[in-house]
Amino acid sequence: MLLLIILNILLCSNFSVAQLVECYTTFLEDKGECKDILGYDIQQTDCCLNPKYGFRGQDGKCNSCRKAQWGPWSPWGACSVSCREGVKIRWRACYGIGRCKDASQTLQTMSCRDQECCPVNGGWSTWGPWQPCSVTCKSGVRKRERSCTNPSPSCGGQCIGSNNETEICDTLLICPTHGSWASWEVWGPCSGICKVEGSQNIPFQQRTRRCSDPPPSVNPRGNDCPGTPIETQECNHLPLCPVHGSWSEWVTVSECPVTCGLGLQLQKRECNNPAPKHNGQQCPGENSRKAVCNTNVHCPVDGRWTEWEEWSDCKRHGRRNISCSATAGMQSRTRSCVGREFEGDFCDGDSSDNRGCYNIEGCSMEGKWSEWSNWGFCEPPCGARSIKTRSRHCTPIYPAYPEYVGQYKNLKAFFWGESDQSCPPIPPYNSNDVITETAQCQEVPICESVMRLRNRT
Ligand SMILES: *[C@@H]1O[C@H](CO)[C@@H](O)[C@H](O)[C@H]1NC(C)=O
Ligand SMILES: *[C@@H]1O[C@H](CO)[C@@H](O)[C@H](O)[C@H]1NC(C)=O
Repeated sequence: MLLLIILNILLCSNFSVAQLVECYTTFLEDKGECKDILGYDIQQTDCCLNPKYGFRGQDGKCNSCRKAQWGPWSPWGACSVSCREGVKIRWRACYGIGRCKDASQTLQTMSCRDQECCPVNGGWSTWGPWQPCSVTCKSGVRKRERSCTNPSPSCGGQCIGSNNETEICDTLLICPTHGSWASWEVWGPCSGICKVEGSQNIPFQQRTRRCSDPPPSVNPRGNDCPGTPIETQECNHLPLCPVHGSWSEWVTVSECPVTCGLGLQLQKRECNNPAPKHNGQQCPGENSRKAVCNTNVHCPVDGRWTEWEEWSDCKRHGRRNISCSATAGMQSRTRSCVGREFEGDFCDGDSSDNRGCYNIEGCSMEGKWSEWSNWGFCEPPCGARSIKTRSRHCTPIYPAYPEYVGQYKNLKAFFWGESDQSCPPIPPYNSNDVITETAQCQEVPICESVMRLRNRT
């Protein structure tokens, strides 16, 4: 075919002079094509006044207006076989008016070898065993394979057909139903009613769900529902727990008001340990108190007088005997200041005392009865037999000695000593010394009721 075209071109280059052609302003030498039509039915000689033009004659072929000249060689064609040795061809055309030299040089052929060997297809091995079914229940597919090794292909050959095939497999088993969760139940109550401030232990609540929508089948055994049936969350919406107030330690705010011994001083405390918060209660009780304070210093103890000792005998210095005489003597008595300690005060007053005296010890004196004394106590103090006593005594009639004695008459003198006197008995009492009278005490309570009364108080 290619050869024929080339021969035609060569033959038709021998044309007559007066020929009408299609005239083109461009001749594409590598393809032998005309381009950019200038006009139809134009004298070929006119068209070819420009050797760059091309024309298409009645044979329909395109030619160049220049003098005949070989075009460029075409690229080499493909090798005539795809494996082992073949040939490849290239060609060129002669375009233009006249003849080209060496008219036989339009084709060139040369040996070629794209591939040293030709592909040989392989053959399949026997099928391998069926692989397990793709499912464990109901029906699925299974597959088996074979290999292209019997024999193996060579030089790029292959096996014809698929290396695997599949078929439907039926396990003859019912599929299990896997469990699926029902929706969550409502949240349960919180584990507390408030949140402790600053604590990580926030009350929580839980909700549950059941693996019942549907439940897993029993035979065959379906899977349990995945995940947990219980969900926990913190009850963050709860209010903060009330913090009840608590007292600080007592703090002494005043000095001990005494310089010795125990005193009372003021102590205070504050409701800030902690202070009440979040509607918590105030601290109970008072915020101040009096507390005992101890100076550890003993207070001064003042001295106190003992009772006076007995008067000393009534005597007069230098005189042997002033008994039973109007001669005044002196007597004295003493007392002691006792118990003074810790720089306490001394006793006020004198520790000794003097007075004038008349010594009537053992002297015989005129006597007279005193008035009745007051009634004494009821003895015994309870019971029906309780009695009281009063008495009259025989007392001396003191002689009319001077009341004041001494140099300045300012020392009062007292009668001293047990004198010896008797009084005429008063009937019906037969005594010249002392007479006593007794009487029944009236309305004296019985002793049991007195004891009861005493126990009550
Ligand atoms: C199975 O055969 C098909 C068709 O021949 C092929 O496309 C597929 O790659 C093969 N599978 C395997 C695993 O070789
Ligand atoms: C002192 O004088 C009185 C009376 O003159 C007499 O009774 C008494 O015995 C005398 N006492 C002494 C110790 O002498």
